[in-house]
Amino acid sequence: MSTNDRQPSAPATVGVVLVAAGSGQRLGQGIPKARVLCGGRTLLEHSLQGVVASGVARHVVVVLPADDHVLAGVVERAARATAGGTSAPLVTSVTGGTTRTASVRAGIDALPASVGVVLVHDAARALTPPAVFRRVAAAVSADVPAVIPVLPVVDTVKVVAGSTVMATPDRATLRAVQTPQGFDAAALRAAHAGASAGDPAVTDDAMLMEARGAVVHVVDGDSLAFKVTTPLDLVMAEAVLGQRALEQPGAVP
Ligand code: CTP
Ligand code: MG
Repeated sequence: MSTNDRQPSAPATVGVVLVAAGSGQRLGQGIPKARVLCGGRTLLEHSLQGVVASGVARHVVVVLPADDHVLAGVVERAARATAGGTSAPLVTSVTGGTTRTASVRAGIDALPASVGVVLVHDAARALTPPAVFRRVAAAVSADVPAVIPVLPVVDTVKVVAGSTVMATPDRATLRAVQTPQGFDAAALRAAHAGASAGDPAVTDDAMLMEARGAVVHVVDGDSLAFKVTTPLDLVMAEAVLGQRALEQPGAVP
């Protein structure tokens, strides 16, 4: 190697914002969704396990509903379990807001300035494989400040106005979007600073980057990164864990 060859820059410090402050209205259990049990453990425990197992994060900020002592206890246990490990993340928590955007913002604000890449992840995507975190984190760069995991769309999708179909977009151009979504930290902070936290049309963080003209790239998502939203999704998550228990008896569910 000649002395003029550029050294690869040191990998950026990665922080994960794990948003878990939602109320779970569509799941309908009357408790915050992150506290709902699946295979005997809370959805938050499952999602934290995936984040930690990925090995990408130096810092994890879990965004919680106000005064939720059960979920605060889950975070404290995770923090204790990872404390002192050389490659384990520092796990902390912060209180979220009334919208997902406000919760993400609270999480970003709680990350140290040393974090160069932020992954924003829905705790409701509780069974997301660790490889998805690694794939997204590896794809974020100075040239590509936003990366999202996607899957092909299996249904035909219509644009409707009231009860009238207006158009049928070409399905081959459509993708269903998952999390974790990965961002250059400075770009994400700037995008959030310029956005209204109360706008219900903002359903993910990549939208805020797109609005600023940022390059947003896609990587492969994973069907196991589905979001537990409705009671049927919870049945599916239970079935996945049940199948795992049969295949690997004794493993942590
Ligand atoms: N979320 C959050 N703060 C909010 C709203 C949502 O941290 N004010 C989080 C949820 O905890 C979830 C993720 O954002 O992990 C995706 O949101 P969603 O699936 O809509 O969860 P809920 O808002 O809890 O569910 P619902 O919309 O059915 O009430
Ligand atoms: Mg919601």
